[in-house]
Amino acid sequence: MTQRKILVTSALPYANGALHLGHVMEYIQTDIWVRFQQMRGHTCTYVCADDAHGTAIMLKAEELGISPEEHIANMKAEHERDFKGFLINVSNYHSTHSQENREYSEMIYKRLRDNGHIATRTITQAFDPEKELFLADRYIKGTCPKCKAEDQYGDNCEACGATYSPTDLLDARSVLSGAKPVSKESEHYFFKLPEFTEFLKGWTRSGTLQTEVANKLSEWLDSGLQEWDISRDAPYFGFEIPDAPNKFFYVWLDAPIGYMASFKNYCDRTGMDWNEYWGKDSAAELYHFIGKDIVNFHALFWPAMLDSSQFRTPTKVCVHGFLTVDGKKMSKSRGTFITAESYLKHLNPEYLRYYMAAKLGAGVDDLDLNLTDFVQRVNSDVVGKVVNIASRTAKFVAKSGGTLSANIAEPALWQQFVDANQTIAKYYEDREYAKAVRDIMALADAANEYIADKAPWALAKQEGAEQEVLDICSLGVNMFRALMVYLKPVLPELAIKAEAFLNDSLSWQSLSAPLCNHQVAEFKPMMTRVEMEKVDAMIEENKAAASAQAEKAAAAKPVAAASIEPIAETIDFNQFAAVDLRVALIVNAELVDGADKLLRLTLDIGEAQPRNVFAGIRSAYSPEALIGRRTVMVANLAPRKMRFGVSEGMVLAAGPGGSDIWILSPDDGAQPGMRIS
Ligand code: MSP
Ligand code: ZN
Repeated sequence: MTQRKILVTSALPYANGALHLGHVMEYIQTDIWVRFQQMRGHTCTYVCADDAHGTAIMLKAEELGISPEEHIANMKAEHERDFKGFLINVSNYHSTHSQENREYSEMIYKRLRDNGHIATRTITQAFDPEKELFLADRYIKGTCPKCKAEDQYGDNCEACGATYSPTDLLDARSVLSGAKPVSKESEHYFFKLPEFTEFLKGWTRSGTLQTEVANKLSEWLDSGLQEWDISRDAPYFGFEIPDAPNKFFYVWLDAPIGYMASFKNYCDRTGMDWNEYWGKDSAAELYHFIGKDIVNFHALFWPAMLDSSQFRTPTKVCVHGFLTVDGKKMSKSRGTFITAESYLKHLNPEYLRYYMAAKLGAGVDDLDLNLTDFVQRVNSDVVGKVVNIASRTAKFVAKSGGTLSANIAEPALWQQFVDANQTIAKYYEDREYAKAVRDIMALADAANEYIADKAPWALAKQEGAEQEVLDICSLGVNMFRALMVYLKPVLPELAIKAEAFLNDSLSWQSLSAPLCNHQVAEFKPMMTRVEMEKVDAMIEENKAAASAQAEKAAAAKPVAAASIEPIAETIDFNQFAAVDLRVALIVNAELVDGADKLLRLTLDIGEAQPRNVFAGIRSAYSPEALIGRRTVMVANLAPRKMRFGVSEGMVLAAGPGGSDIWILSPDDGAQPGMRIS
């Protein structure tokens, strides 16, 4: 087999927050692949770093009253601790705020510029006159120009789904200072992406991407690319653009260059040859593992930048879907926004590594962490099937002195274990971990059946059956060894314990020959069962942390919409009585294509025809969770024509937004159609 040289990266986590299990999923997926390649004898280097630049990080440091440098140093230490905790074996963990990254960013920018791929022009943006800062859309809030819902973000309305530009907002204000934004001009630098359209059409179809991702990109490429704004005005935490005082590289310009920088830092430490991996004619392979939300940065901007600046482009960009917990987006208030740190406080990292491996495929589908299934699956597969093979057979081997038989009792069965290796290797290579795990567990089932069938514990009571018992159990131990070779990329710590017991090191090559006449060590328990109580405790802890955080944020934010608004004028009783509030039964609820904030509700309010209402509550409710429930609706609101149909009323809900929205729910005694007064 020829030895490959492979450089692998995971997306660089932002240095403004803790890692959560969504991040961890990506790092586990990458780590399994890297460990597999290393086990196969290839040179496989895995680099990552903190993504340390940008406005959000600057503001966070300010809020904490420390320098950005201090803030990112703290975050990096936390992130590295979590990587270790989940056994993510990065070769190097660096930062985008590093000398190496400054040098490569400047070099690449200058090459783009000298090749004529940079344009400058003046644009007008919202500006916070108090903070003296240009405001990205998410830092502006105001009243929706279409439906007049208050407290909406600068780019879209959560209530009616309208999209607009922040200048359209009524009474817009800066989230940072509460000041009214003004329009201000400034010169920006653009990367002329459209000039790379033909190159990208070829590159995205050259086996570098999953088909579904390439198809998505085709849509973008066909509808025409835009120039990419790569500059930000001071104050900005980042690198100043050469020959452009007070202009900084947009964080996404230098972030992927951080892959090069981290590898450079590694090469300087180890003597590896940087050029061999990044040079234009590199024969090495380059793999980026990323989530589906950042495909445009990695499969459009990045290859175009690399091509223009005379570097090699990635071999593959491997895109994964998102992690959900119990079928829903991770939610702070439900306690399912689980930080890496809190998981590790309660549970063994290998439980999660196994569960994710057992569910990960090569596609971009989301992966659901179902907590009940998690407990059950890890217990039944890893503890109940795999480790159990060793624990059932080891004691009989120990009784005959700890030396395995000279022969394999059932060569055909053993051969099955050996023959599986090519298929399993192919699955790992293709990131089809779930298929690999399925085949491995089928082998574990075969091993357990064999042992149950031979019942060495019964034979052991018979006179003169010692050799037979030893033969059966020696095969059992060898089957366990084969399973642990296959699982080693997923369960590295368990593999170390297995190696200690087997008195052998687990490598892919070692599979060809079984252990015969071989002394094993004493068997010690290798993994305890997952306890549901620990899972519950973890969820409770995250819930408590989230509500403490929400309280703190509420107390610290005097500019929050409601509190600075003057108390609304009072209304008289007639005005109130004019609102027709009714108890409504939700007879149907469904997603709305093209509107990711909305649900379409069908409401029975005792009239001949049910009402059709669009509600901006999708971030908090799945449609299934709503069907059959009662709520309160405004029945005499003028019908409103929306992109998706006519909305015939409005349902009442409370909460700050996101997953924290609650529809009002009258008790069961309230019948559909009853008027509320
Ligand atoms: N800093 C950028 C990446 C720069 S790469 C040159 C970024 N950071 S991130 O912290 O928001 O996300 C890091 C990675 O975690 C991304 O690949 C992202 O898709 C992934 N995930 C973040 N939340 C996730 C889930 N809930 N589920 C799975 N992966 C998710 O983007
Ligand atoms: Zn609106």
